[in-house]
Parts: sequence; structure tokens; C-alpha cells
Amino acid sequence: MAVPKAVVWPRDPHTAAKHDLLKKYLQPWAPILLTHHDSVTYAEGFAGPGVYEGGEPGSPVVAHQVFAEALQQRPKRVRLVLVEEDARRVEKLQRQLTLARQHTPDEISARMQSELHTGTCHPILLDRLRAGGHLGKPLFVLLDSYGGPDIPFSLLQQLAQYKRTEVMLTFVPNFLTRFAAKNDGHRGAGDAAFGGTEWHGVFTQPAGRKFAYLRDRYRESIKRAGFTYTLHFEMVDEGGHPLYLLYGTRHELGVEKMKDAMWSVDPAYGIQYRDPKDVQQQALDLQFEPNTDPLRRMLLEFIAESPAGRAVEDLQQYTLLETVYRPAQVVSLIEKMRDDEAVATEPRRITKKTQVFPYAKKPGQCELF
Ligand SMILES: C[S@@+](CC[C@H](N)C(=O)[O-])C[C@H]1O[C@@H](n2cnc3c(N)ncnc32)[C@H](O)[C@@H]1O
Repeated sequence: MAVPKAVVWPRDPHTAAKHDLLKKYLQPWAPILLTHHDSVTYAEGFAGPGVYEGGEPGSPVVAHQVFAEALQQRPKRVRLVLVEEDARRVEKLQRQLTLARQHTPDEISARMQSELHTGTCHPILLDRLRAGGHLGKPLFVLLDSYGGPDIPFSLLQQLAQYKRTEVMLTFVPNFLTRFAAKNDGHRGAGDAAFGGTEWHGVFTQPAGRKFAYLRDRYRESIKRAGFTYTLHFEMVDEGGHPLYLLYGTRHELGVEKMKDAMWSVDPAYGIQYRDPKDVQQQALDLQFEPNTDPLRRMLLEFIAESPAGRAVEDLQQYTLLETVYRPAQVVSLIEKMRDDEAVATEPRRITKKTQVFPYAKKPGQCELF
């Protein structure tokens, strides 16, 4: 999609699905954190106008609705810190938040504070979070730019210093592909976004590998910034257009919750997921039990890398942290793979400790051929 010039623009299926994902993640996130803390903060660096052409809510309004509901059960507070560079959109967003407050009981509104700032995400967002004492407290940051090199590594690094901060970044792949051209003027911006020069390796990659190369370097950058656990995947719409999403946290539980949210996104938006690690780049329908062919390929490769085999619990951990799948799918898949003679297990009964080997390489077993 071209970068919209108008104040508001039509909501595309990616955006609808992204908002559903945000809602389904924040719905459990808010109550869990509000049980243990007096307040939580939701921040956006690219907040948008708060509404789409058809009247659908923008992400800050989606978040406002989720938090208003969460506060009904708990005598706590929620703070929203929103930055947007287009003054017309800030004005529109202000109006949308006022409307949202009018639909919220006064007693709840009194415990929801929102601040809007006009200007560029960096350094305003960080300055405001620091000045307001939000850093170090539970904080979810959405960085949903159109896909320019607008998110400096240094911002991510500063956010990641605080163990209760989580980030979600979204961009269309051209954010990455525009760095792949040799002589464009993006080197400085690229170094600032990737936090170094390792990404320059893209210039020697074959054309078909450039996007994947940069995508993988970018994920490493997020980890290097300090987000120990990351989840990345692509949402593909019916026209085949991808949107890349990256989530970073310092807590494994966050990844589990984000996956639960991912797989509960409404399939009616017509999007599919793609796991960046899957060599065949198979698109997956949104089902509670998605097609496991890509997971099977990824697990086979992971198992083959270890001559001593892999324990089921390691396969589950790998599935959680390195793929779009949930660990709960691993045991039944291993059973299926064993029936198909793709792997062998020792012992036969599958527990967390059971070792899994490529079929022909099970110790003590004759080669198949
Ligand atoms: C993809 S839209 C955000 C949509 C919004 N998060 C939602 O889902 O409803 C990106 C927004 O970022 C704003 N923007 C672009 N560059 C920016 C920058 N460097 N700093 C702050 N805002 C920026 C644009 O004006 C636009 O409103």
C-alpha cells in the first residue's frame, strides 16, 4: 500500500487482523499485570488518527477499549502515551479518544490517563516515557510505522533495559528491501536501524535471498538490543501482500501469550501466516490446530543437526521460541512422524525426556538401505 496522504485511509485486512491480534494479546496481558502492579502503560510511537475511513477504530482506540474493560474488575490505573508526527492525525486521534471516554464510565475514565504528543517517534517517545516515570513499570510499546527506517536501534536498546517492557514492531517488507540496493542513500539510516554494519552482507547475497537475509539480521538486532525472546512471522493477505511482525520481550511467558493471541485472530479477515524459518514458505490458515507440514520440516532439520538426537522438551522449547507454532502441537506431530518412519524415539513412550532421532540414525538400529 502506498503511504496515505489523507488524514484517514481505508483499513486493509492486515490492519484488521493486526488490531485483532493486539486486542487478543492485551486482553490477558492487562489483567495479569494489573493484578500485581498499580498501573500499566501502553505506548505507541506511530499512533495514527485513531480511526479508519469506514469508522473502524485505530490501534490506540482498540487498546483504550481493552483497558477500560480490564479496569472494571480492578481498582488500578492505565496510562497511554501516544506519539504521532502528523498534527492533523493527532487532532483526529484526540477526538477519537474523547469519544471513547464518553463511552466509558466516569469512574473508569478517571483512572485512564492519555497523553498525545505531536512529533517524531524518536526521541519524543522515550523522553515522555522517562519523564512520566513509565520505564521500569509494565509497558507495552507498539511501533507500527509505515515501514521506513524510523525505529533506531538505540530506542529499542533503551526500552529493552527494563525487564517489564515489551515491544511489537510491524512493517511491510520494503522497509528491508530498500536497504538492499547498493548505491541508495540508506546506509546511515540502515546502520542506525540495525545498530551496526552486519547487515551490509546483503550486498553480496543473491537477489532472491536479500529480503530473508535482512529479515534475519533485523531479528538478531532486536535480540541484541536486549529482548531475549522474540517472535517473528508474516501475515499474508488474500492478494499475497506480506506484513512482517516482530515481538520482543524478556519473558518466555510473553511469547506463549502472543502465540495464543496469534492463533485466535479471526480467520474472517482472510489473512494467513508464514513462518520465516520454513524453507518452502508455506502459508498457513488461521486454525486452532494449523497445518503442521512446515513445523515437521523445521523439526526434522533441527533434529538432524544433533547426532545425539533431541529431547522432546527441547523440541517444544524450539517450537515455542523459533517457530510460529505452539509447543502443544509437538507430541502428536512426533507420533505422526514416527508412524511415517521419519523419526525414531527412545523410549517409545513419549514424555518430555524422550529422545528423538532421525529414523535411520537411531543408535543401534540398522540403516534402512
Ligand atoms: C501505520 S500508521 C499507524 C496506524 C496505527 N498504529 C493503527 O494501527 O491504527 C503510521 C503512522 O505513523 C505516522 N508517522 C510516520 N512517521 C513517523 C515518525 N517518524 N514519528 C511519528 N509518527 C510517524 C504516520 O503519520 C501514520 O499516522
